[in-house]
Amino acid sequence: MAMQQFGKDESGAGIKVNEVHDLTRIERIGAHSHIRGLGLDDSLDARAVSQGMVGQNNARRSAGVILSMIREGKIAGRAVLLAGQPGTGKTAIAMGMAKALGEETPFAMMAASEIFSLEMNKTEALTQAFRKAIGVRIKEETEIIEGEVVEIEIDKPATQGAAAKTGKLTLKTTEMETIYDLGTKMIESLTKEKVSAGDVVAIDKASGKITKLGRSFARSRDFDAMGPQTKFVQCPEGELQKRKEVVHVVTLHEIDVINSRTQGFLALFAGDTGEIRTEVREQIDLKVAEWREEGKAEIVPGVLFIDEVHMLDIECFSFLNRALENDMAPVLVVATNRGITKIRGTNYRSPHGIPIDLLDRLLIIATQPYSEKEIRLILDIRCEEEDVEMTDDAKELLTKIGHETSLRYAIQLITASSLVALKRKSAEVEVEDVSRVYTMFVDIKRSTQFLIEYQDQFMFNEVPMAEADEADSMED
Ligand SMILES: Nc1ncnc2c1ncn2[C@@H]1O[C@H](COP(=O)(O)OP(=O)(O)OP(=O)(O)O)[C@@H](O)[C@H]1O
Ligand SMILES: [Mg+2]
Repeated sequence: MAMQQFGKDESGAGIKVNEVHDLTRIERIGAHSHIRGLGLDDSLDARAVSQGMVGQNNARRSAGVILSMIREGKIAGRAVLLAGQPGTGKTAIAMGMAKALGEETPFAMMAASEIFSLEMNKTEALTQAFRKAIGVRIKEETEIIEGEVVEIEIDKPATQGAAAKTGKLTLKTTEMETIYDLGTKMIESLTKEKVSAGDVVAIDKASGKITKLGRSFARSRDFDAMGPQTKFVQCPEGELQKRKEVVHVVTLHEIDVINSRTQGFLALFAGDTGEIRTEVREQIDLKVAEWREEGKAEIVPGVLFIDEVHMLDIECFSFLNRALENDMAPVLVVATNRGITKIRGTNYRSPHGIPIDLLDRLLIIATQPYSEKEIRLILDIRCEEEDVEMTDDAKELLTKIGHETSLRYAIQLITASSLVALKRKSAEVEVEDVSRVYTMFVDIKRSTQFLIEYQDQFMFNEVPMAEADEADSMED
């Protein structure tokens, strides 16, 4: 990782961006690991089963339209609501969008309840989330040395066990040949990259990073010490030293953290970023605006996904209203399974627990419950994802269970039943395994039934029904 400063000599202010090169995206593994995209064809129609996605065609198509607008950079500051019953694939569709967007466009996701558990105030948490979803594509010129290795010479240490190594590296192009002095660090990276005579390499002058471009064609007859995947390249022409334009995308949040004096870039990896001062952000926004004007940088509006959005409170909602009006705003995607319910922090009820003024700005995508056939297909995919072999009969039973209880419950029974099958030393899950776990773990319906029958024996059974209703979701 390069520890240098971007544009310090030209622009003076010394805003650092170089320390973090690529967008990193931490995925929640598990429930949605089978989703690889939205499964749309070129005309944005949903394929019946594709990229791990099944059914829910209308919602997927709508999500696809939003995506193509994002890709064309046409929309910023728009907001989309995924609304539907529990287990109808809202989170799955958002994950599909993230996968389909690709590496260059930032996608930040959070559950609304997270803002109540962070050690910072709610608006700071939301500001950070927004800035994680805004990318800056930066063009930089760097100096590189590119040539074919003629010889690497590493000096014998003068005294036994001397730490500092020295040596010489001879590089050539078709026109010239130069000898470079090597220090310990360079020798170590050359050894690590296994660079040898005949390799064509590029060395970033500022960071010292070595990239092996391939073997020189001139050496293609030395068959020894060559793997089958050896790539042959021409010996570079012209000067050894070249200027090259490199482009990389970082998020505003990453720039914030690196430049926040109390933090330092390690905080990015520790995840412990704390609050960032407003002045830091203002300075960075100014700098980025300057770079944009000079044609050095472009804004890449990404996506901020807030799941379980009904958990936000009225202050957060009004923050969102304002934040969407910023000219660098990302696309906001939110999801909820709530019907008409109280807006957190108020006594008012509203559709999805979202204030009307924000609802008014949202494009709403509705998700529908799955048919039995679709449940079967999703279970097939999940079995494959979890490497579980299951007989057709067992899958049929599981599908029935999924249809009558919930898709999630059925998905959870896959792992459990495979463990039970394993216990009786069977490589395949059969009907008996599924029915066994069905009796071991109860679903909501049976659990509720049980609670009603035995409510006298539990604590807090005196909660009046009306209050319990408050917490109910759209399902009932
Ligand atoms: N169309 C689909 N294709 C493939 N898998 C799906 C599809 N829809 C849902 N799933 C899978 O089913 C499970 C439940 O779906 P998901 O978590 O997306 O539901 P949700 O609508 O977000 O529910 P909730 O409102 O409870 O958050 C997940 O494991 C998800 O990956
Ligand atoms: Mg969800």
